[in-house]
Amino acid sequence: MVLTGKRILLIIGGGIAAYKVLILIRRLRDSGATVRCILTKSGAEFVTPLSVSALSEQPVYQELFSLTDEAEMGHIRLSREADLVVVAPATANLMARAAQGLADDLATTCLLASSAPLMLAPAMNGYMWAHPATQANVAQLAERGAQIVGPDAGDLACGEVSLGRLAEPEAILAAIVERLAPTAMPLAGKRILVTAGPTREALDPVRYVSNHSSGKQGFAIAEALATLGAQVALVAGPVNLATPPGVDRVDIESADDMLAACRAALPVDAAICAAAVADWKAEIAPQKMKKSGDGLPVITWQQNPDILATLSQGAQRPGLVVGFAAETQTVIAHAQAKRARKGCDWILANDVSAERGVFGGDANQVHLIDGEGVETWPQLSKTEVAARLAERVAAALSAT
Ligand code: CTP
Repeated sequence: MVLTGKRILLIIGGGIAAYKVLILIRRLRDSGATVRCILTKSGAEFVTPLSVSALSEQPVYQELFSLTDEAEMGHIRLSREADLVVVAPATANLMARAAQGLADDLATTCLLASSAPLMLAPAMNGYMWAHPATQANVAQLAERGAQIVGPDAGDLACGEVSLGRLAEPEAILAAIVERLAPTAMPLAGKRILVTAGPTREALDPVRYVSNHSSGKQGFAIAEALATLGAQVALVAGPVNLATPPGVDRVDIESADDMLAACRAALPVDAAICAAAVADWKAEIAPQKMKKSGDGLPVITWQQNPDILATLSQGAQRPGLVVGFAAETQTVIAHAQAKRARKGCDWILANDVSAERGVFGGDANQVHLIDGEGVETWPQLSKTEVAARLAERVAAALSAT
């Protein structure tokens, strides 16, 4: 409930992306904010006043010259009683009118009458966004202090693929939290690299070796860090998991690819290596290996690069490097030796013997090992381990 007591005036412009704003309203309410909404005439073509009102649990304001709206809450009060004004989707037309200082409907009048900080989440066709007129309007609004969130690149409703998608509700929410409750975002401005999942090492064009890592712990860590405001680069092996909101994900297969993707993400403030990287790679047969007579195939193995050890050294070493130690016996002693050998700052050691069900399961019991000693955490869900770790990372990075 990081936004408890915060009042947001949300102006919903007319664009197909308006439906995503319903999710934003829900998230804002879940975070404790009071949300008052102005639904523009064209916005009401895409979402209904009833949905907006039901989700915000407030009346919806639509008309400048509405006797009921004015009697309930005059437009001046509406614009004054807000800690932040958010326009989403901010259409080209709405931004053009705001940049010009027009006051020809309730939305633009409130924008003109408001002294609250302004956040714009643009959404439109890619050509409209790139047009010099739109860019000039956005630049002018930004110069006057408006914060611009997005737009994102991707599929647009018009069938084109370009820059112009409304930022995801989670990203807009994160920007709002960062603005209104910065202490809830202790990792704002920090870049963190997370590796997750297994790697897959090819044997020939159709076969590979891999392991049982589900990627759940690494993905939960990426999500927990992003929730605290970090800019997260998630380098993921082949897993069947959705990308956590607000996280930049790069999918890779082999350990060599994972190392290259990690290097490309540097510099970062912290790196957390949760991936179960294959220790060996095979000399890949150029053609599919065939069963030939009585002989078994001969596979020549080579050592894979150690990503954690590589990240722990060199000029671009992150300020904090965290590894995991998956052990099946003498967990703490092995993990302490691993920490020293790999040169990382912290190791989260866990027992992955089969009876523990860590691989693919939802629970984890870890020991945090640093230069000072060992801290044993209780049995927690992977999400709770992630949240705890993210808090610890935030504390460590703010102390440096
Ligand atoms: N790791 C890595 N690159 C590798 C192997 C491991 O980055 N090639 C990282 C893992 O992401 C994890 C840590 O190193 O954070 C330890 O992984 P683990 O599998 O427990 O250790 P190993 O290096 O495989 O050591 P051992 O074989 O002794 O268990």
